[in-house]
Amino acid sequence: METGIVRGIRAEHIELLYDISGKDNVLIDEEALNHYAHDETENLHFLPDVVVKPASAAEVSRIMVLCNAAGIPVTPRGAGTGLSGGALPQFGGVLLSSERLNRIISIDERNLQVTVEPGVITEVLQNAVKEKGLFYPPDPSSRGSCFIGGNIAENSGGPKAVKYGVVKDYVLNLEVVLPTGEIIWTGASVLKNSTGYNLTQLVVGSEGTLGFVTRIVLKLLPHPKHDLLMLVPFRDLEKAGAAVSAIFRAGFTPSALELVEIDALRIVSKMVDSSVVPVTEDTAAHLIIEVDGNHIDSLMAEMEAIAELLTAFDCGEVFFADDAQQKAELWKLRRRVAEAVKLAGYTIEEDTVVPRAELPALIRGVKALGLQYDFNAVCYGHAGDGNLHIRIKKEGSIYSLNNEAVIPALRALFELVKSLGGTISGEHGIGLVQKAYMDIVFDDMQLQLMRGIKKLFDPNNILNAGKIFDPV
Ligand code: LAC
Ligand code: ZN
Repeated sequence: METGIVRGIRAEHIELLYDISGKDNVLIDEEALNHYAHDETENLHFLPDVVVKPASAAEVSRIMVLCNAAGIPVTPRGAGTGLSGGALPQFGGVLLSSERLNRIISIDERNLQVTVEPGVITEVLQNAVKEKGLFYPPDPSSRGSCFIGGNIAENSGGPKAVKYGVVKDYVLNLEVVLPTGEIIWTGASVLKNSTGYNLTQLVVGSEGTLGFVTRIVLKLLPHPKHDLLMLVPFRDLEKAGAAVSAIFRAGFTPSALELVEIDALRIVSKMVDSSVVPVTEDTAAHLIIEVDGNHIDSLMAEMEAIAELLTAFDCGEVFFADDAQQKAELWKLRRRVAEAVKLAGYTIEEDTVVPRAELPALIRGVKALGLQYDFNAVCYGHAGDGNLHIRIKKEGSIYSLNNEAVIPALRALFELVKSLGGTISGEHGIGLVQKAYMDIVFDDMQLQLMRGIKKLFDPNNILNAGKIFDPV
């Protein structure tokens, strides 16, 4: 491969890394390296040569300068909860972990902004601002363990995206260390900005291929005072999908609108040993619907109106989560679906997204492809955004990467998504596992522009090389 990338790292480089970050923060023993060799993506495993845990942008800069000069691959990593292999050190080299960059620097209550380092756990950040009555909405299912830096790399979403938007809608400004070692800020910490190209948004979602983010300024909102949650069973999966767009067309904007196919709910309920959800035999799927705001009476009226509207879609008896404990239990079930179905053999995770009203067509197509290509699929996810996670189980197949048995089925799935006006990832990123399918949604010119941007930021292709697209 013509990347200028050398596999392996010499003793003199390790000495230099000790000098930069301290011996305790440079790991070379195999057991430690193993911990950083995987994320949550299927069963992929790539061992780095060394793990470095810098504590400042200046350290990151020195590491970049060293690696850039020596042609050593650098792979940024947050908490390792990614689902597209973005943090996997495919070519070995330096694994650059953000775990020690874990401070909440300041909460600006005057301007409703927070400045953080990338290694802060998303939920820790949410709780810290909530104590001040403030709200940071993006809430990936892994929020209890994922890092905000990883969320920025992937432009993560989560259930609340349907009303509040995804990570990109909250990032105002970023401090980034470029692969060549320069430290830049991408913009200004303001709510509007028409000043030049938008470097901030270019870095958001760039999957750690353009720079290593060391400081993040996020927009906050006032925290809504109340939320209500209900679970609605449907006898038909497609009808549940059709109900989703009807809710918005009727003028409602729920703060979460999630779909969970019945097999997924059964699997996760068993795993966490929960009986909070009464499941009837004839249920094919549930919608989880949340509304939030400051006036409880209008929220009640909204929930009732939505429930009434759903009767036209052959739904069963609505289950209202009565108290904080029931709500927490229901959300716990939803957040652990991915983990549960993976353990049950649905190892291949897809992150399709289509215009919301095309959900029934997507669901119908997925089931038809399952019959055609002999796989089982279980659907769940952020239906309100048209973002359907599809977990696939195919006997004898674990990896989607270079897996001849799976590739034709995934290509057919993504062709379907494209024909419905959608795309191949809504919030998990392309990383390693989806890059073989980029040609379905982008033509040569589009990919050339992206590669050109990559080259400008990273002329020697040291940073997260081979993610999103193959090296040029
Ligand atoms: C979820 C993750 C997998 O929605 O995105 O649970
Ligand atoms: Zn999701």
